[in-house]
Amino acid sequence: MERTLVLVKPDGVQRGLVGEILKRLENRGLKLVGLKIVFPDLSLAQKHYAVHEGKPFYEGLIRYITSGPVVAMVWAAPEVITAVRQTMGATSPTEAAPGTIRHDFAIIRDRNLTHASDSVESAEAEIAIWFQPDEIIDWKMTQEPWLLHRNS
Ligand code: CMP
Repeated sequence: MERTLVLVKPDGVQRGLVGEILKRLENRGLKLVGLKIVFPDLSLAQKHYAVHEGKPFYEGLIRYITSGPVVAMVWAAPEVITAVRQTMGATSPTEAAPGTIRHDFAIIRDRNLTHASDSVESAEAEIAIWFQPDEIIDWKMTQEPWLLHRNS
């Protein structure tokens, strides 16, 4: 099943929004398969944001993600990458659709609360940066037939 990495960034943790973000992803019927709180060091931050190295906002982004604890999660579902990015909303909160997390709880791009992987390749690479394989749990959701079973 497709997997994605979600980070609640330091602003989300400090503002007490971890439960709200988790709840919205649970409400969508996604399966939580990994969860932990991490205070990212420079090396972890640089690995995670390697694709942005050299961009004008890179140094500030590294300072932001290393400024406090981050809650890292792995979610699984068919099309989970698209589903999660839809629930998060556009990177800039003022461009995010009403009802999305970034629209409802954020106002500027530099404090946009969450990160979510943008492709299968980046999801697998990012999961490997934040989690050891034995920290990810494969389990059966009892409500799965009511969420995922197709009629044909
Ligand atoms: P995230 O999904 O964590 O991925 C990269 C982050 O960089 C993004 O969220 C924003 O926080 C930030 N970001 C992306 N584009 C820009 C930009 N043009 N200027 C400043 N910050 C950006």
